[in-house]
Amino acid sequence: FHFTPLKNWMNDQNGLVFYQGEYHLFFQYNPFGNEWGHMSWGHAVSRDMVHWKQLPVAIPEANGVMIFSGSAVVDWHNSSGFCKNSSSSDNSCLVAIYAGYTGKLQNQNVAYSNDRGRTWKKYAGNPVIDLHIADFRDPKVFWYQPGHKWIVVTVLATEHKARLFASKDLKHWTTLSDFGPEGAVGGAWECPDLFKLPIENEHGQSRWVLSIDVNPGGIAGGSGNQYFVGSFDGRKFVNDNPAGKALWADYGKDFYASTSFSDIPASDGRRIWMGWFGNWQYAARFPTTPWRGAQSIPRVLKLKRFPQGIRLIQQPVAELETLRGRHVTIENESVEAANRVLQSKAVSGDTLEIEATIEPGNAKSFGFEVRTGRAQQTTIGIDRVKSELFVDRTRSGDTGFDPRFSGRQTAPLRIAAGQLVELHIFVDRCSIEVFANHGERVMSELIFPSVSSQGIRLFPSGGRGRIFRL
Ligand code: FRU
Repeated sequence: FHFTPLKNWMNDQNGLVFYQGEYHLFFQYNPFGNEWGHMSWGHAVSRDMVHWKQLPVAIPEANGVMIFSGSAVVDWHNSSGFCKNSSSSDNSCLVAIYAGYTGKLQNQNVAYSNDRGRTWKKYAGNPVIDLHIADFRDPKVFWYQPGHKWIVVTVLATEHKARLFASKDLKHWTTLSDFGPEGAVGGAWECPDLFKLPIENEHGQSRWVLSIDVNPGGIAGGSGNQYFVGSFDGRKFVNDNPAGKALWADYGKDFYASTSFSDIPASDGRRIWMGWFGNWQYAARFPTTPWRGAQSIPRVLKLKRFPQGIRLIQQPVAELETLRGRHVTIENESVEAANRVLQSKAVSGDTLEIEATIEPGNAKSFGFEVRTGRAQQTTIGIDRVKSELFVDRTRSGDTGFDPRFSGRQTAPLRIAAGQLVELHIFVDRCSIEVFANHGERVMSELIFPSVSSQGIRLFPSGGRGRIFRL
């Protein structure tokens, strides 16, 4: 289910953009080894966000300047002057903006491509924004239609500020405003994104989402993937919530640096993001070879009003359904009977998609054990008493490569009496991604089980809960 490079190190996804029928996934990449270094933009393309083809490095480190995280857009009307397509009906090209890192200072730079992202030229006038400081990075650019201008959101990482700039041509930028410090400030701020989303079931209503990651994930809560909900007038973002309150997009430890696709056609209308499946606490020691690093599955973002306020919900893109193979349905059975069916139909695997609707009954906790094998299991469950979703990877397989890896993560989950609980789980070779109650809570966790650990069962086996549909 998850993209990994063929070999070598990868961290953040970068420059997600849809252009001429292709989704582009660039990523922080070391072309020379399986550890962080020589940061360049690796590249992969897909027609469905599910099947990816890795291409040669798009933007390599050069002259002692690493290519840090950033974003890309389609410059539809050649506002930059970079586009060389002669066709009168389409004068567009791709433009990327990234943080250049000299080893000391970070500044913002642009590059462009006139061949559908295959080759890139760095702009001769780089850097385009330079504050002569060390921690200024991760530019995410978007077109702001009401003001007819490009806007880029960056971070002053150690000051816990997002700084916004505007431009007419992607080359000359003027400062708009700062946001922060607000929310969680327990680490460096990284990889911001800013976009508008409609509110589900509230016709014509929308809010803006500012997402900002906190490095390393898992120290303050959640994966480090923090977001704010508020308003944006083309100049300044204003948070709807109290300044001290942090909202988390993912409560697992391994969803980081997410940003959304640019230029998804209006006829599609989805806002989709992906994140790096990792955490700086222990990423350098993941026991994989010859590659290290994965991306999350693409997730559709929505806003929904809950009693406590407007919150982000995330759902896997429907395109993933094309990966479905053999299909087993179990309906209206006790947990025990469901386990017998799973066994009799020999349901097992190191890649499984599970969609379950569960009636908790009076079970204190219930859920799934996946990737089970000799003394191994990863538990995904609901604690009804504590109103929590949890993932326990303490016995998931290889956990010893870093003391901060092994553990049990929890997320608050509202469970009203008599309410059915919905779990949508992607079990993969070295990760699980859990969407609870239609994306109201998400948890992403890496696991490194033995290849032979492919079992699955439901608990509690006492059978006091009931599978409504699996
Ligand atoms: C986030 C990050 C970014 C930076 C990149 C460097 O994971 O630290 O802030 O641009 O990784 O690889």
